[in-house]
Amino acid sequence: MALLDKCEKFNLPQVAQELGLYPFYTAWQHMAADVCEVDGKSALMFGGNNYLGLAHDDRVVRAASDAALTYGSSLTGSRLLNGSLELHEELERELADFFGMPAALVFATGYQANLGVMSGLCGPDDVIFFDQYAHASLLDGARLSQSRMRMFRHNSPDSLDTALSSAEPGRKGSRLVVLDGIYSMEGDICALPELVEVARHHQATVLLDDAHGAGVLADGRGTLAHFAGRAEVDLLTLTFSKALASIGGAVFGTPSTISFLRHHARSMVFSAALSPAATAAALTALRVARQEPWRGRTALRNARTLAGELAALGYACAPATTPIIPVPMKDKVQTATVWRDLMNRGVYVNAVLPPAASARLRLSCTATQRREHLDEVVAAFAALR
Ligand SMILES: Cc1ncc(COP(=O)(O)O)c(C=O)c1O
Repeated sequence: MALLDKCEKFNLPQVAQELGLYPFYTAWQHMAADVCEVDGKSALMFGGNNYLGLAHDDRVVRAASDAALTYGSSLTGSRLLNGSLELHEELERELADFFGMPAALVFATGYQANLGVMSGLCGPDDVIFFDQYAHASLLDGARLSQSRMRMFRHNSPDSLDTALSSAEPGRKGSRLVVLDGIYSMEGDICALPELVEVARHHQATVLLDDAHGAGVLADGRGTLAHFAGRAEVDLLTLTFSKALASIGGAVFGTPSTISFLRHHARSMVFSAALSPAATAAALTALRVARQEPWRGRTALRNARTLAGELAALGYACAPATTPIIPVPMKDKVQTATVWRDLMNRGVYVNAVLPPAASARLRLSCTATQRREHLDEVVAAFAALR
């Protein structure tokens, strides 16, 4: 079979599109904080990660455009060879300070931050232990590192203990335990203190990816602060593409770890620097998040309210502890059909299909959604019931 034959045969997207059941790659004509427009119709945005509502905040957008005017549109190469802006280093200092870690390194995306930290630090002698719902970028980083990989049951200290007891690293190897702060499809918070305790018992290093917790939990300081000193990690990563309303990501660790990664993380060394506009947007969003802790609290309150009201309608929603609300569906067809019906009623949510996760709708709440927005979503779900 020729390499590209499978592409010729892959017609699922066209078939689904013809039925109006294709929930991916929506091309928005207009985007504002909580209301977007597609095909001339407006839709409430409950399917993004703009948790603090800063992606359309004047201060953030102006900082991005000022930075583009001042520094140009691109650095056109890697930071190692072509140089950084002072703005990158300012962002690294402020991130480390706010998230309570000794030092930070900014990457072009959160995906690249995870790829860089795992492949930069781990090798074939190491064993990496993943929560079964760890984000794909962490798994891809481990693949790039050629380390051995082991899964443990979601949020289960017992399962982690068993996994750690049964996999010895190679002669020169170590163990790394990898966790998400908030699981992006489950919407639950990592059992961090219990899992870190088990990891420490086995002398394992711990990496926490706080892509969804940073900016939201604990007045914006994230999952580590949520557990208020009950758990420490060696490595932290996060993305700017969610609460921080930009694009980019960061790895946090000791100054020596960060210096090592500056020279060994392939996704840093062989990829271009974060653009001036994205760097300035993330820095400004970080400052706003710090000054306006009500934003994270409001996103959480909106999610608690919405999840409670959907549960009262009979949907199998657990009480929300994060801005993410999964609504379980029976199968792929039901997911796509309900997604389409919600869209027809002016509500955009994420349709999540296997193998990414079991079939579900994923709703996410923000700081700027108003009571009437929540009412419209509840009314749309009630009508479908
Ligand atoms: C848990 C987690 N980690 C990492 C990433 C990657 O972030 P980015 O969008 O900045 O590449 C995501 C994005 O979906 C994520 O949910």
